[in-house]
Amino acid sequence: MGCQNLILILIVSVLISSACCSSANDYIRPKPRQLLHFPWKYHTSSEPQQVHISLAGENHMRISWVTDDSYVPSIVEYGTSPGHYSAKSEGESTSYSYLLYKSGEIHHTVIGPLNPGTVYFYRCGGEGPEFQLRTPPAKLPITYAIAGDLGQTGWTKSTLDHIDQCKYDMHLLPGDLSYANYMQRRWDTFGELVQPLASQRPWMVTEGNHEKEYIPLVKDSFQSYNARWKMPFKESGSSSNLYYSFEAAGVHVLMLGSYTDCDEYSDQYGWLKADLAKVDRKRTPWLLALFHVPWYNSNVAHQGEGDGMMSAMEPLLHAAGVDIMFAGHVHAYERSKRVFSGNSDRCGAVHITIGDGGNSEGLARRYKNPNPEWSVFREASFGHGELKIVNSSHAFWSWHRNDDDEAVKSDEIWITSLASSGCLADKAHEFRKILMGP
Ligand SMILES: *[C@@H]1O[C@H](CO)[C@@H](O)[C@H](O)[C@H]1NC(C)=O
Ligand SMILES: [Fe+2]
Repeated sequence: MGCQNLILILIVSVLISSACCSSANDYIRPKPRQLLHFPWKYHTSSEPQQVHISLAGENHMRISWVTDDSYVPSIVEYGTSPGHYSAKSEGESTSYSYLLYKSGEIHHTVIGPLNPGTVYFYRCGGEGPEFQLRTPPAKLPITYAIAGDLGQTGWTKSTLDHIDQCKYDMHLLPGDLSYANYMQRRWDTFGELVQPLASQRPWMVTEGNHEKEYIPLVKDSFQSYNARWKMPFKESGSSSNLYYSFEAAGVHVLMLGSYTDCDEYSDQYGWLKADLAKVDRKRTPWLLALFHVPWYNSNVAHQGEGDGMMSAMEPLLHAAGVDIMFAGHVHAYERSKRVFSGNSDRCGAVHITIGDGGNSEGLARRYKNPNPEWSVFREASFGHGELKIVNSSHAFWSWHRNDDDEAVKSDEIWITSLASSGCLADKAHEFRKILMGP
């Protein structure tokens, strides 16, 4: 190639890249990364491993961890200054077998009552290293980090590093955690990978298809997930770890199950109605919902998979006035306008697909064209989201793409609550009608 041609190409490419100030278009999407390597580590038999925490009813926190030794007591000592444990709780432990694999002892201990917005120091099993956590604030503002479909690759690590750098109170995960895919050892390495974050801030998770690990006639679904990631379902009146709710700082959060029955005669639907009937929007002006399979998805991947759940539950959630619904499953990011029943609706919910945590299956790159009227932003990149609920009327949402390992804020929007828009009053009649139904 002649030198002149080369210069011409250079000039043209500079022109093209500078003409486009929204970098989304010239951004070259990366390939999936390899699974992380977890070197074997020596653990004493009582050493706490895979420590993670989750809310467990008002002002309480569940501490979950694993030990090699089954005789370690499920004790957590805690207090507000390092090395001084003024309180102690005892919990319970469990273990499970999966074909040739035998899990360590999985401990779950609820501590509290705890003060809001407070740092606590804690120790698991009566000895060993000290951890620290911070409880969520009593009042708004509150900030959530949100990323689904995490897995345990180099991209997962990048996503977790970015989340670690942001100031947040809680992690919300709309399904697909470890991608263990029946290899139980990978549940352990996932626990090891997330411990630095999940031992400090509550991780509130709901299940995805990769949690199922069903083997017909041999293994029930969700055995490992339920044993390891116990969520406050009893505390929220639910009979299953696969759906529950919790409240913190003026926000009521519904964690729904995409892989359990959801029709109007199902347990989940009955529980959801009862749970929504108790929500007081003066106390919790914001209402969020998370589940794995998106209902508003213009990616080619997983088209229509959420339709059954959507037709069963959208009328109820709409009437109840859910502000924002988060889903995963599709390995990409998408944000909708406020929508209901397939169309934009100023009293509908904003739907956000955030299944871009970084798993080994890679990105879902193909989109349906043309772009549906309700879809505002869609991009197949790895990343994470942050939702800062500022006050009863305003929340700031941002999506941060993993751009060559740097978190680059690529989408942002102020969202105003339905509670502040007058929409809830318009829906009250519809909501009561559905609550009275079967
Ligand atoms: C809520 O926060 C928004 C954004 O910061 C602000 O404009 C608004 O005035 C606040 N509303 C109240 C009632 O404080
Ligand atoms: Fe999935």
